Amino acid sequence: MTTVTTGQLLELAEKNVELAVVEDMAGQFEEAYELYMKAFEYAGIYLFNENNPFLKRQNRQLFMDHYTRATKIRGRHHLHGPPLSNEAKSGLGLTKLSDVAGLEACKEALVEAAKLPIENPQFFTGKRQPWKAILLYGPPGTGKTYLANAIATETGSTFFSVSASDIVSKWMGESEKQVSILFQQARDAAPSIIFIDEIDSLCGSRGENNENEASRRIKTELLVRMQGVCNDETNVLVLAATNTPYALDQAMRRRFDKRIYVPLPDLKAREHIFKVHIGDTPHNLTETDFEHLARRTQGFSGSDIFYCVKDALYQPVRATLNAQFFRKTSKGMWVPCKRTRQGATEITLQELNAQGLALKIQLPPNTRADFDKMLARQKPTVSEADLEVHKRFNKEFGNEG
Ligand SMILES: Nc1ncnc2c1ncn2[C@@H]1O[C@H](COP(=O)(O)OP(=O)(O)OP(=O)(O)O)[C@@H](O)[C@H]1O
Ligand SMILES: [Mg+2]
Repeated sequence: MTTVTTGQLLELAEKNVELAVVEDMAGQFEEAYELYMKAFEYAGIYLFNENNPFLKRQNRQLFMDHYTRATKIRGRHHLHGPPLSNEAKSGLGLTKLSDVAGLEACKEALVEAAKLPIENPQFFTGKRQPWKAILLYGPPGTGKTYLANAIATETGSTFFSVSASDIVSKWMGESEKQVSILFQQARDAAPSIIFIDEIDSLCGSRGENNENEASRRIKTELLVRMQGVCNDETNVLVLAATNTPYALDQAMRRRFDKRIYVPLPDLKAREHIFKVHIGDTPHNLTETDFEHLARRTQGFSGSDIFYCVKDALYQPVRATLNAQFFRKTSKGMWVPCKRTRQGATEITLQELNAQGLALKIQLPPNTRADFDKMLARQKPTVSEADLEVHKRFNKEFGNEG
């Protein structure tokens, strides 16, 4: 079992506070301020969760003191600017909801399930109960895991993430006890979310030949615990993902009061996925180019596109490695170019490096051709037959899509 984000975030926060104090004492207030704010951002969402077991009371106080100190520095030294938000997050590589392309219905349902009961508990009176267990299903690579991680960053809930295959392989023997500990921890830390990825590997239909005694016990324990969460008032949400929904047996399927289909990305979503994964890498693609790429990738999953982009982003590196000609830009940088280009000098990367110019070498920006080249080789990994299965499950058991 791994408890992600919370522990790691706090560790990062503490590291930043340490650095901030050093800068602060050295009179480097601007640097100190930035570091304090970064720390606060890392720890921030957890500070407001009184029950968070990872943040002891005195640590919470300490963070608050540091925050006060930071605001003082800011006031006294007229520092301005937003308290670094995106940078801190991208430094951590955390997925944000805005990084998840398309899937609007899924996002909405998840945010509703994760945030509403915490922010507006008064809505849930009488028989109106928040969702307790949500199943995400859909073809491989459509962003189920990605989406769950984004939810973890966007809500103030403590997030417990376990992969079902981890449970089976690592917890052998004591596994079912671990399942109950996991649920107990989640209860203690409420509001919290337990995310069980690839739940199918844990919950294949009972009574199948290959099912051994141990995994049957884990599954039974999980069923019991989930029932418990569904029946009581605690703010624990179970989120699970699978790409083989039919592998879940009926008892398990029934525990999920909401089942959300995560489909292949549509045209608009594919365009967005290209943009998200290219990010701020230098490129000269126009809006029309992005549309063209999206149209070319009909039937691709998010992860197919992700790998395509990853490969295409390497094209400028390959071009530079193999270049025979470079030219010097007005800013004194060396960029690879064609032999015929004005100012082209016959020289290789090795020779430039040997002349101590390594830092003066600039990669050319990515072009549409880089992507077209990759797409010519790539085929969608999700087959029609796979899709049919998911659509059928969606019709039979889904409530969203
Ligand atoms: N909607 C999306 N928006 C942006 N990126 C996406 C999207 N869907 C997939 N990706 C990219 O594809 C990668 C793989 O997606 P992810 O692992 O979430 O798929 P999955 O649905 O969990 O697949 P599996 O069923 O195989 O576990 C992500 O890390 C992300 O980079
Ligand atoms: Mg996954």
